[in-house]
Amino acid sequence: MPQAAPASFVSHFPLKAHNTFGFDVAARYACSIEHEAQLAAAVNDPRAAALPRLVLGGGSNVVLTGDFDGLVLLIALRGRRVVREDDDAWYVEAAAGENWHAFVAWTLAQGLPGLENLALIPGTVGAAPIQNIGAYGLEMCERFASLSAVELATGEAVAFDADACRFGYRDSFFKREGRNRFVITSVTFRLPKAWAPRTGYADIARELSARGLGDAAPDAQAIFDAVVAVRRAKLPDPLELGNAGSFFKNPVIDGARFDALQQREPDVVSYRQPDGSVKLAAGWLIDRCGWKGRAIGAAAVHDRQALVLVNRGGATGADVLALARAVQADVLARFGVELEPEPVCL
Ligand code: EPU
Repeated sequence: MPQAAPASFVSHFPLKAHNTFGFDVAARYACSIEHEAQLAAAVNDPRAAALPRLVLGGGSNVVLTGDFDGLVLLIALRGRRVVREDDDAWYVEAAAGENWHAFVAWTLAQGLPGLENLALIPGTVGAAPIQNIGAYGLEMCERFASLSAVELATGEAVAFDADACRFGYRDSFFKREGRNRFVITSVTFRLPKAWAPRTGYADIARELSARGLGDAAPDAQAIFDAVVAVRRAKLPDPLELGNAGSFFKNPVIDGARFDALQQREPDVVSYRQPDGSVKLAAGWLIDRCGWKGRAIGAAAVHDRQALVLVNRGGATGADVLALARAVQADVLARFGVELEPEPVCL
């Protein structure tokens, strides 16, 4: 087999095009990884051996508050294929650098439904398990089979099944104990043959009705199209307005606290969880505090979805964090609820 070309280092690498907020920061070194074999060489390079590392896929879940004094690994691993099928499911593998939305569209074009509710989520396949992406009634972990990663300290390939990933709501092992320790190289999804449309989420049901599909059982492509339309209407395109999707997680509080809150705020939007706790719509809490469309300098709360913070042009990561703190303080003062950021802040 021909040897992969060694990864080449670039110093003072601009990261503006590699983070969806569009912050104008730079990395001391960056290195594009197109073949797995380049990873070990990159992390063992004497220039970077003692420096911190940052793995970037699409840069859609990170807040870069300044220049990164270390090595950025830009994951450009490509490839996607159906690896096998059994009586119950198809197994589809994609390399970490594949664009998530293009991958979802490709699975549907192969006649393989199951990921359509997750259409148009920015970022790469390799980033999807890190925060267990989710939307419109589906979380990625429900379609996950396994992933391959390389441990940075040893260069060893390691396989993770779903248990090892410890998925939670916008959470996994890779955001906690495994943070900065592994580079995900590929992910395999299990798409059950017994497919059923998931259209319970109000925005999707409404969009399907508007398209005359309210009573018919929609196919996966129709759901994909509806999800794309709903997202385009509410969520800003990072290419037009820098953002990282929801900036905060929807907070979960215990049932007793919720009952007290609901007494005071009867309209509070909430979702009862199977264990009796209650998830609150952070967007509603922020909106109710009057933050929708408000800005501090060039960092603003999006005017169509208060859960999204945006860079109106020229904002820094510090500006966005200052805005986030102001929003958190108001939500805490009014509702007694703490909001936790969803993206990783560096
Ligand atoms: N709401 C408001 N005002 C707002 C925003 C929301 O009143 O400004 C209310 C809505 O009317 C609705 C409720 O809050 O009753 C929930 O809003 P929405 O359906 O837009 O969803 P969300 O809870 O704000 C979550 C995810 C999104 C995902 C959508 C759809 C999180 C942190 N966010 O948002 O994920 O697309 O549900 O499933 O869980 C992301 O993680 O980056 C992301 C965009």
